[in-house]
Amino acid sequence: MRFSLLSLSALFSGTAVIAGSMPSKIYGVNLGSWLVLEAWMLRKVKWLNMGGESCSTCSSCIASEFPFAQAFPDTVDGIFAGHWNTWFNQTDVDTIKELGLNTVRIPMGYWIVEQLVDRTVEFYPRGGMVALIRGLGQLQEAGISVILDHHALPGVQDSEQMFTGHCTTNVEFYTDANYLRALTWAGVFTGLTHLHPAFGSVFALEAVNEPIMDAAQTPGYGTYQQNFVSVVRSVEESLGINVPSSQASSSNATQAIIEFSNSNQNSSRLNPTVQTALINAAIILAEIALTKDTEFDLIKSARGQPPLTTNFMDVNWQNDNPPNPAAAAMGPQAYDNHLYYSQGVADPTPEAYMQSICNLNRVQADAALGNSPLWFGEWGLPTQFDATDEFLSQWADAQKLAYSQGAGWIFWNFKVEVSTLAGNLSREWSYFDGVKLGYLTKDPSQVHNASVCDGFTTTS
Ligand SMILES: *[C@@H]1O[C@H](CO)[C@@H](O)[C@H](O)[C@H]1NC(C)=O
Ligand SMILES: *[C@@H]1O[C@H](CO)[C@@H](O)[C@H](O)[C@H]1NC(C)=O
Ligand SMILES: *[C@@H]1O[C@H](CO)[C@@H](O)[C@H](O)[C@H]1NC(C)=O
Ligand SMILES: *[C@@H]1O[C@H](CO)[C@@H](O)[C@H](O)[C@H]1NC(C)=O
Ligand SMILES: *[C@@H]1O[C@H](CO)[C@@H](O)[C@H](O)[C@H]1NC(C)=O
Repeated sequence: MRFSLLSLSALFSGTAVIAGSMPSKIYGVNLGSWLVLEAWMLRKVKWLNMGGESCSTCSSCIASEFPFAQAFPDTVDGIFAGHWNTWFNQTDVDTIKELGLNTVRIPMGYWIVEQLVDRTVEFYPRGGMVALIRGLGQLQEAGISVILDHHALPGVQDSEQMFTGHCTTNVEFYTDANYLRALTWAGVFTGLTHLHPAFGSVFALEAVNEPIMDAAQTPGYGTYQQNFVSVVRSVEESLGINVPSSQASSSNATQAIIEFSNSNQNSSRLNPTVQTALINAAIILAEIALTKDTEFDLIKSARGQPPLTTNFMDVNWQNDNPPNPAAAAMGPQAYDNHLYYSQGVADPTPEAYMQSICNLNRVQADAALGNSPLWFGEWGLPTQFDATDEFLSQWADAQKLAYSQGAGWIFWNFKVEVSTLAGNLSREWSYFDGVKLGYLTKDPSQVHNASVCDGFTTTS
C-alpha cells in the first residue's frame, strides 16, 4: 500500500522540484537583462526609450548601467524600477512554469547590495533588492529553483562588456579592495538565503560570472575562490547550519556572525580578509533586516537547512595555468561553463558546429579535474552564418543532448526584445521565442531527434 502510494506520487510529480534543492537535471533559463541590464538585448527600442544610447564601442556612449546612472542621477531609480517590474514579472514566471523549466539563473550586480557602492565615483540604480525579493517570492511560489549569480563584479571583471554593468577598459576587479567587496556580497547573500523567506528556492551562489579567460590577467583569483567558500561556510556555521546542536551561538544572526569571526581571530581557519568580509556582511544584513521593503527576521533559526552549493566557472574556462576551484571546495560545490559558438568555438559552418557539439568532451575533461557536477549556465542558438529553421532545430537538439551529459543547461536568455527594429534577435537568443518557432521542444527534457548526432560523432 505504502509502496504503491509512493510510486503514484512519483508518477505524478513530473518535473516538479523541491524548492531550495538542485534539480536532478537542470532545465533552465537565465533572467538576463533584468537586474543587470544589457542594452544589446533591448537596445533597439526599450533602451533608447529609457534614455540610453547605442554605439559600436560600448564604452563610448551611454550603453550600460553605470553611464546611464551617472547621466540621469535624479530619475535613474524610477526608470529602472519600471524596467525591473516589466522585464520580469508574473507573466514570465507563468511562462517559465508552463514550459516545464525547473531552474533560473539570476545575474546580479554588486550594486544590488547598496552599502558596497562608493557613490562618489560609482553610479548605479538603487532599489534592485526590492525587485529581487519580489521575483524570488514569485519563483518560489511556482516551485522554480534559483541560482544567484554574481554577474557584474565591483571594479568590473572584463573590458568593454555590457554584462559587467559598466562598459570600460578599466578592469579593476582583480584587486584586494574589490575582492573584499565581492566577499562581503557573498556573505550578505548567504545570510539572506538562509534567513529571508523569499529566498527559499535558492540552492546555489555563483562567485564570478566570466572572469577574463587568461589567468595571467586575473591575479589573486585563486585566493578569492578559497575565501569565497570560506565566507559562505562561515556564515552558515554561524547560523547553525551543519553544526552539532550543542554549539551555542547568538540567536541574532548579525551577532552570531561577528562572534564567529572574532572567536576565530587567531585560528588558521579564517584569514583577516575573510574576517573583515564576515563583519561587513553581518552589519549590512542587520541594515537590510531593518529596512522597510526588505525587512526580515534576523532572529530566525536556520538550523537544519541544507548548505548552499558554491558555484564557480569551471577550471577550463581559463587558460594559462588557472587556479582550480575544486581546491577550494568545502561542502557541495558545482561548476559552470558557457559555450557560445557564435564567438568562435568551431569553424563557421553548420557541419563544423555539429561536429564539435556532437563530440563535446567538456563534462569529462572537467570531471577529470574534479569539476563535477558541471552545468552549462549559458548557451543559445546564435551562429556565425545564416541558419535555416531546420538547422536551428538540430542545433538546439544537439546542444541539449551534449549539455544534459552534465548536470543540465540554462539557456541565455528567457527573452530578448521583440520589435521590428530588433529583427531576428529573438530567433536565436530567446528561449520563449525558440519554443514558439519550434526550434526548442515544448518539453525541455525532450529533443526532436535523439539521433541528431548520427554521422557526426567520431569514435575515439
Ligand atoms: C508584465 O509586463 C508586461 C510588459 O512587459 C505586461 O504586458 C504584463 O501585463 C505584465 N504582467 C503582469 C502580471 O503584470
Ligand atoms: C541584532 O544585532 C545587531 C548588532 O548588534 C543589532 O543592530 C540589531 O538590532 C539586532 N537585531 C535584533 C532583532 O535584535
Ligand atoms: C588573538 O591574539 C591577540 C594577540 O595575541 C590577543 O590579544 C587576542 O585576545 C586573541 N583573540 C582571541 C579570540 O583569542
Ligand atoms: C531572419 O532570418 C531569416 C531566416 O534565416 C532570414 O530569411 C531573414 O532575412 C532574417 N531577417 C533579418 C531582418 O535579418
Ligand atoms: C535524425 O537525425 C539523423 C542525423 O542527421 C538523421 O539521419 C535522421 O533522419 C533524423 N531523423 C528524423 C526522424 O528526422
